[in-house]
Order: sequence, then structure tokens, then C-alpha cells
Amino acid sequence: MRMYDIIEKKRNGHVLSEEEIRFFVQGYTDGSIPDYQASALCMAIYFQGMSDEEISILTDAMAHSGDTVDLSRFGDLSADKHSTGGVGDKTSLIVIPTVACLGAKLAKMSGRGLGHTGGTVDKLESIPGYQTSMDGEAFMKQVEDVGLAIIGQSGNLTPADKKLYALRDVTATVDSIPLITSSIMSKKLAAGAHNIVLDVKVGSGAFMKTPRQARELAQKMVDIGKMCGRNMAAVLSNMNVPLGTHIGNALEVKEAIAVLKGEVHNDLRNVCEVLASNLISMVLQIPLDKALEEVKEAIDSGKAFETMKAWIKAQGGDVRYIEDPALFPVSPVIYEVKSPASGYIEAMNAEEIGITSVMLGAGREKKEDAIDYSAGIILCKKVGDKVQAGDTLCLFHTAREQALPAAEAKYLAALRFGETKPEAEPLIYEVIR
Ligand code: URA
Repeated sequence: MRMYDIIEKKRNGHVLSEEEIRFFVQGYTDGSIPDYQASALCMAIYFQGMSDEEISILTDAMAHSGDTVDLSRFGDLSADKHSTGGVGDKTSLIVIPTVACLGAKLAKMSGRGLGHTGGTVDKLESIPGYQTSMDGEAFMKQVEDVGLAIIGQSGNLTPADKKLYALRDVTATVDSIPLITSSIMSKKLAAGAHNIVLDVKVGSGAFMKTPRQARELAQKMVDIGKMCGRNMAAVLSNMNVPLGTHIGNALEVKEAIAVLKGEVHNDLRNVCEVLASNLISMVLQIPLDKALEEVKEAIDSGKAFETMKAWIKAQGGDVRYIEDPALFPVSPVIYEVKSPASGYIEAMNAEEIGITSVMLGAGREKKEDAIDYSAGIILCKKVGDKVQAGDTLCLFHTAREQALPAAEAKYLAALRFGETKPEAEPLIYEVIR
């Protein structure tokens, strides 16, 4: 079998056979298929799509491209969460300790930033000392003792996705339903949890730009999970505007801490409550309204925050930073972006804002780039807010002074001003269970 023929077949819009899909996954994983052929196939899939059958085979081949995790020791309590990626999306840092303190067991493997979106592993690495890799038994022991552990995609778990994810990030092939479905569900299936909640982001800052696309993606992922015997819920949440106020790794950790300390009640907390309550209702088999009460109580009582501290400590992180986030290093330049107009902010392009944060150093432009953990953006005004010309719209945190003019121009171009207050959009479009 030749990779050339597989690329050509998909390029011409044909359905790949099981053998061809498995040949590609195996060959790309073992290095016999080079990056340039894998990227050509991803681009062909991007344009031609895949049938449901092809997606299930691709997901299964990727899930079995390396080790799989056995969580049977946790019975039905094992749980996992995944986001399709957004801007300012630090929900895992809040949802995971919250459901863990309510009795779920989360052995979670997370990803790095992808395109304009951030990744949980990069955020956690901004905490001094935090170890994002652990050996298997220590990982399980921590889940048993603390209720959760979050590491990077470990050694040999879905190596096919590990390579493809990094490749897609730099070849403009992220926002493809078959590729996102197989990427996310291969990891979730290999990671072994019995209960899975997916946060499917919709809007300008998400890979899925419309509720229709997001629903299609959500339904495919829920179907694949159920076919494999997992309890599944998918929450379609709004990503037309960055979530919360902080974008960038250490900045997002600080905002997550503020939510868990009960200091902030914003859109971020609301989305986290929906995700956490859907997950814990499946784990404990309780009604959704009861689950929501439990989640609110876990945060308001400080129990979820205590669990966060225990988790960070168990993974080597310096808990003083969690107790006192002012200890996190701050960027040498803090630049105020001023409003050029008076009126209401009618819309924000969250993707462009995510790209602005990458320009400031918070993400990667090439897969080998290093991240500046302190860099990012703090939003002072969001959609629906009234502003006067000269008001501060946001704060840029950066060490790249030379990037400021272009970043400011990009940020301002991402905003639309109007004379009337825009109608509020739904924060949650739908939950598919
Ligand atoms: N998150 C993933 O894990 N994979 C994707 O392809 C997109 C978002």
C-alpha cells in the first residue's frame, strides 16, 4: 500500500477503507510516513470530509496506536472532561477539582495550546514546580488519594494523536469535524473514563463557528462514546467572546483560583457549573438540579479550592502561588489599550483576540516555540459594555515591547462598536446527553 495513493483517493473525494486508514495511523505513528504526507492527507480530509464509518475507524486506530489506561479500579466513578478549545478557556482548572471533591475520580490527560486556543498543560506549567508527567502507578495513586491528577498526554498514550495534533496546529487543519472528533475521542477512549463531559465551543473563538457545526461535532463524539459503552454529555457553549477576563497561561490560572475562592461570579463560573453538574450527575447518578446544587456548594464552601491545593501540591507545584496568586511573575510591560470610540462593544472576534495573545507571547506560532507564561491579556470591557473614548479596554501583559503596535491594531480590529446595547447571546446553547 502506498501513502501517495491514499492521499490521492481522499483528495478525489473517495471513502478510505479500514485497511488504508489503519495503514496511515500505524505508519505515521512509527515514523515511516513523513509529516509532509500526513499533512497532505489531513488537508484532503479537511476539504473532502469523512463518512461516519471512516471517523469511527480513524478514532479506533488512533485510540489503539499506543497504550490504553485501565481505570476499572475506580468502578463507575471515573470521569473525564474535554474542551474543543477556546480563548480564555480555563474550565478544566475549575471543573476537575470541583467534581473530584464531590467523589468523582479523574485521571486526566490534557493537551497543549492549539492554534489560537490555550491548553491546560501549558497553563499548569506556569505554576512553579508542577510536574506534567508522572509514572503510571504514581498517577493512579494520586487519583485514589486526592481524587484527581492532570498530566500531559503521557508517554505512549495515543501517540498518533500526539503527532497529528502538533502537525495540524501548524498546517491549518485543525477545524475539521472528522479530525477533531477522532483526536478528542481517541484520547478520551484510551484514557479509560466511564463518564465523559465534552465542552463543545461555538463561535468566533472556537474551531466550530456555528451552532449547527458544533451540534454535528458534539453528536458524533457522543455517538462514538456511547458505542464504546461510556456515559456521555456534550455542552454547546458560547465562544463568540473570550471566556472570563484573563487570557494567557499564568493569568488564566489566577482567574481559575479567583473562581474557586468564590471571588468571581462571571460567565466562566456559569459554564463551569454546567459542565461540572452534567458530569457529576452521571457519576453519582443524581438528577441534574441536585447535581448543580452540589457543585455550587462545593465552590462556595471552599471545598473545591482545598481540593485544588491538594492536587497542585501532590504534583509538585508550589502551593504558595495558589494561596497567594500575587506571587506569580508579572510581565515587564503592562500596556493599556484605550478605546478609540464611545458607545457599546457590540461584538468581539475571540479568535483574533486569541491570536493577539499569541503575538504577545502566550502561545506558539511554530510547534517548537517556547511560551512566555506571564504573557497575555486582561479584558476590562467585554461585549455589551458601554465605553467612552479613551477608556481602557484591556491590558496587554508582555515581554515583547516591539509586538505592541501590531498587537494593539489586531485587538482593536477585533472589536465592533455600536450605539445601542447588543442583545445578550446564550452562554449555553444546548446539552446533548
Ligand atoms: N482538541 C483536541 O484534543 N483535538 C482537536 O483536534 C481539537 C481540540
